[in-house]
Amino acid sequence: MIKLVATLFFTISVNSVLAAVGPAAPVDDIDTDIRDQESMQRGMALFTNYCFGCHSLEYSRYERSANDLGIPKEIFEENLLEGDAKIGQLMTTSMDKDQAKAWFGNPPPDLTLVARLRGPDWLYSYLRGFYADPSRPYGVNNVVFKDVGMPHVLADLQGMCAEPPLMGIDTEVDPLSGNIVKSSGCQEYKSEGSMTPAEYDEAIYDLVNYLEYVGEPSRIESERIGLYVLVFLAFFFVFVYFLNKEYWRDIH
Ligand code: HEC
Repeated sequence: MIKLVATLFFTISVNSVLAAVGPAAPVDDIDTDIRDQESMQRGMALFTNYCFGCHSLEYSRYERSANDLGIPKEIFEENLLEGDAKIGQLMTTSMDKDQAKAWFGNPPPDLTLVARLRGPDWLYSYLRGFYADPSRPYGVNNVVFKDVGMPHVLADLQGMCAEPPLMGIDTEVDPLSGNIVKSSGCQEYKSEGSMTPAEYDEAIYDLVNYLEYVGEPSRIESERIGLYVLVFLAFFFVFVYFLNKEYWRDIH
């Protein structure tokens, strides 16, 4: 009885905490695919070029990514290793936390588990959600992370959005012309980037795919083993079924 009351109490308090947080900002949905090695390779390249200066992936090793993403060791060492880092090392950065806090208000957090914490939809929206806001120290704000301390480091790719980008909007297509009338993302740019909106969305998809993989590198392997286990159980069931019949034959 005490257990029941405790469980009830816990459920009610968790629910009220969740309710107090209020509705989250709408986000765009994506289906990540951690079997798409090419996508994750592009994502990792983007990460090392644009994010690794500030954010670490300190619970993962370079070598694990190289193996799981199918990147040959020599190519990896030539292109994706920073400075004198060794392939067996953890993916740490040397950024000083106190200094970073002074620069950005908050130090850039480690991103190893960010996809598990925030979810891929949120990440996909966050990285496409920056817009110009002159009242902020770096001149940018974000639709899913209000008053964020991070600058828009991908502005040279995406361009700078003039207004808060729309999120969670169903794409509407004009049936006559086939043109898109309304869709998520940036509606008007203050300055252009080197990518088209579709290319940028694709690049962010790759990056989120990689971060999703990094959050649980053993998932591909676990799912593969899980499949074998299910196949084994299916075979085993046949034997057990006939054995069971054999045992009961004289009794019935
Ligand atoms: C110039 C440094 C810098 C770079 C480069 C940078 N970030 Fe950030 N990032 C930050 C800071 C600082 C924060 C913390 C913002 C805050 O809490 O207000 C942050 C926060 C984040 C968060 C939110 C984490 C959370 O859950 O609170 C994500 C996700 C993120 N960055 C992803 C990226 C990705 C992906 C890249 C590369 C495309 C990148 N960042 C590049 C400085 C940087």
